[in-house]
Amino acid sequence: MGEAAAEDFHKGTAVVVPAPRPSKGVASWAVDLLERIAVRLGHDKTKPLHWLSGNFAPITDETPPAAGLPVRGHLPGCLNGEFVRVGPNPKFVPVAGYHWFDGDGMIHAMRIKDGKATYVSRYVKTSRLKQEEYFGGAKFIKLGDLKGFFGLFMDQMQELRKKLKVLDATYGVGTANTALIYHHGKLMALSEIDKPYVVKVLEDGDLQTLGLLDYDKRLKHSFTAHPKVDPFTDEMFTFGYSYEPPYCTYRVITKDGVMLNPVPITIPESVMMHDFAITENYSIFMDLPLLFRPKEMVKNGEFIYKFDPTKKARFGILQRYEKDEKSIRWFELPSCFIFHNANAWEEGDEVILITCRFENPDLDKMNGHQSEKLESFGNELYEMRFNMKTGAASQKQLSVSAVDFPRINESYTGRKQRYVYCTILDSIWKVTGIIKFDLHAEPESGKKQLEAGGNVCGIYDLGPGRFGSEAVFVPKVPGVSGEEDDGYLIFFVHDENTGKSEVNVIDAKTMSADPVAVVELPNRVPYGLHAFFVNEEQLGLQAEG
Ligand SMILES: [Fe+2]
Repeated sequence: MGEAAAEDFHKGTAVVVPAPRPSKGVASWAVDLLERIAVRLGHDKTKPLHWLSGNFAPITDETPPAAGLPVRGHLPGCLNGEFVRVGPNPKFVPVAGYHWFDGDGMIHAMRIKDGKATYVSRYVKTSRLKQEEYFGGAKFIKLGDLKGFFGLFMDQMQELRKKLKVLDATYGVGTANTALIYHHGKLMALSEIDKPYVVKVLEDGDLQTLGLLDYDKRLKHSFTAHPKVDPFTDEMFTFGYSYEPPYCTYRVITKDGVMLNPVPITIPESVMMHDFAITENYSIFMDLPLLFRPKEMVKNGEFIYKFDPTKKARFGILQRYEKDEKSIRWFELPSCFIFHNANAWEEGDEVILITCRFENPDLDKMNGHQSEKLESFGNELYEMRFNMKTGAASQKQLSVSAVDFPRINESYTGRKQRYVYCTILDSIWKVTGIIKFDLHAEPESGKKQLEAGGNVCGIYDLGPGRFGSEAVFVPKVPGVSGEEDDGYLIFFVHDENTGKSEVNVIDAKTMSADPVAVVELPNRVPYGLHAFFVNEEQLGLQAEG
């Protein structure tokens, strides 16, 4: 390390190669010692970290491209491309706490070409990972540490390491572990506290981290893991949230990859804002009461994010190309939290948002030693309506619990559409199946559990001891000329009975229990977060690296 930052230009947008300059030496040693003493006194290391056990545990090595994998069934031609899924996979044992959102981003991928499958897994080579590799151990603070007075101490350790130049935060401190998107010839790995990392898919399916994007130094804030690409205009819409006013900043990126000027979105205080949505004319921001509360963390021994059920859920709707926030309309609905929206569109004066809503989230339950059930995460599919003329807002429940990770045929992003594919979550957020909803049908009243009928077109149940992850819809024909649900759902599956992992492909139209294809993988794939499918055309358009 220690080289000056190199810059590579691709299609006019610079990819910055992180070249952090961490340093070993007396200062580093002294902070480590201080931290070790504090961890011994202030952190209970006797219990195992639940979110690092079972199939949440990381794999220790990357897998170079493994070609010629056994395929049961067949891989249709429209699946030529690369299926990618990212998730937390900490390379080094945590010093103290660990939250499920903390691990280094590792991408598990399957290259599909003419019915043949190749599996590969690679870390996203973030600035953070490069520095921890230099030290040979965990050095950066984790969300899992941010609880009680100990959280304050660990935060101060991080600040001290930065001040003493033990760690270098110049290139950000994110893990790129949350989600993937493709825009302007680039596949990006994202985490909401950092800038996007660009990962190139090579012809054999291998993955190469090129660097991070700062849009020619125009991006100075964090970048959500869930930007939206408008399939009709090829623009990308994004935002970042922060701990300082205005707490949220909105950005538009043109189809040519140029980031336009920042638009502040002012909200009363710092919240976790994981997703947003677009329609043909609007962007929708979510000010939900999962509050950043460092003072209460220290005073009450709580986790740093705290949900306040007494506060309303607020939704801000702004014309997509506004230069400032003057005309934003805010709507209120009963208190809730939302990780993920399925889609949004306009109908007359109304903006409709299809979303996975839940009440009383407790992020501390995805942290540390806890392995008990996460009952409070009662994720349900909802339709929300916002009338831009009258200011009225309403909501309607479309499912019982628990569904999340909603995906659609993304040719319809921002436009009215019909089908939503979600994962079914068990009490500890393992994925037990994939469910398809029909937004044109009414939900059956009196339902206590998720089952076919009403607005549920079908469920692909993974069976006992088998768990999946987010399913991506791949259309047979790109665009909106075909039937919306004419395509396939592709996702990773892990069998806890055998310890083996697979990729499953199912028919999205029929949701048949017989998979179209099952590809056996050479190693275990841990449970992870979001997935994406890069088609053959997009692979060909990747900027030369
Ligand atoms: Fe997400």
